[in-house]
Amino acid sequence: MKIHGKHYRSVWPIGEDAFGIIDQTKLPHEFATLTLRNAEAAAHAIVTMQTRGAPLIGAVAAYGLALAMREDGSDESLSKIHDMLAETRPTAINLRWALKRMCDALRNRPRAERAALAWREAAAIADEDVAMSQAIGMNGLKIIREIAARKLGQKLNILTHCNAGWLATVDYGTALAPIYLAHDEGTELHVWVDETRPRNQGASLTAFELGGHGVAHTILADNAGGHYMQQGEVDMVIVGTDRVTANGDVANKIGTYLKALAAKDNDVPFYVALPSSTIDWTIAEGRDIPIEERSADEVLKMTGRMADGTVAIMDIAAPGSGAANPGFDVTPARLVTGLITERGTCAATPEGLRSLFPKE
Ligand code: MRU
Repeated sequence: MKIHGKHYRSVWPIGEDAFGIIDQTKLPHEFATLTLRNAEAAAHAIVTMQTRGAPLIGAVAAYGLALAMREDGSDESLSKIHDMLAETRPTAINLRWALKRMCDALRNRPRAERAALAWREAAAIADEDVAMSQAIGMNGLKIIREIAARKLGQKLNILTHCNAGWLATVDYGTALAPIYLAHDEGTELHVWVDETRPRNQGASLTAFELGGHGVAHTILADNAGGHYMQQGEVDMVIVGTDRVTANGDVANKIGTYLKALAAKDNDVPFYVALPSSTIDWTIAEGRDIPIEERSADEVLKMTGRMADGTVAIMDIAAPGSGAANPGFDVTPARLVTGLITERGTCAATPEGLRSLFPKE
């Protein structure tokens, strides 16, 4: 993705002893990058959500583990760093998927080779994520074309929740990748962007991305999507996901489930876009997905730019009120029209998933 005319990925190597990320806590008010030099810095960036999005935190964790191998390539270090990074966030399975892949690639290799091997494996994870996002984009584009064709030249309205664009992956995105391609080939489209309280990934990140790419969009209060669906103002929904279970249930940013219910009630197609690294074959149903409980402060406070240009954090509730803050919810497979993957689109069923991934 281009920022101020320069191509960026969301994570990139710097030599062989550091890597870079975009500090997403500063967006959209400031575009700042960070250089991470060890696994602890990678863990900190994931915990504080300087870097976020299911596929991206997998790639960042992989680079973090690779840096640790330069300091100490022993089995003990590998296990310790694996566990430290795996504990940073519980819901997105891509994090564990990437760390397992790193450990599988390193475990039976000589200690002296591990640092170089780990760096290459982290780069491969990042490159493959880009390729998967591109393929998801092409597969989702076919669906957008079909729905757009039924509109007979009228503008297509797509609703999305949270941020599943290039900032959530290494490049291109999952839910947003087909939207970018459709826009680029001239489809007249407009995106309803759920603000996505409490951290506002929609308002802060998705709107920033879409605006940068020249895609028409409007930010919605999270509660407004159902109303626009009733008004016939939403032609389809596309969201990303942090974990899909073997039966097709979908964990995604809190509030996704309510959009899926509203979409079902209004016959609006509800698609979920994901790379196969997001599928957790070990869990049968969504009820067993661990849901991250985040700080009450995310609900009780807001961050924004003041009239004088400074960025400030302010209280939005009376002192003394508590807040609950589950980061994700589970959308049952029955509410999902289709899963858009790098191998094609399938039904959100065990058979649908197996038809695309028979060997998993
Ligand atoms: O808490 P976040 O911002 O990491 O949550 C991100 C999401 O829920 C995304 O929709 C999901 O990771 C899919 S990203 C391609």
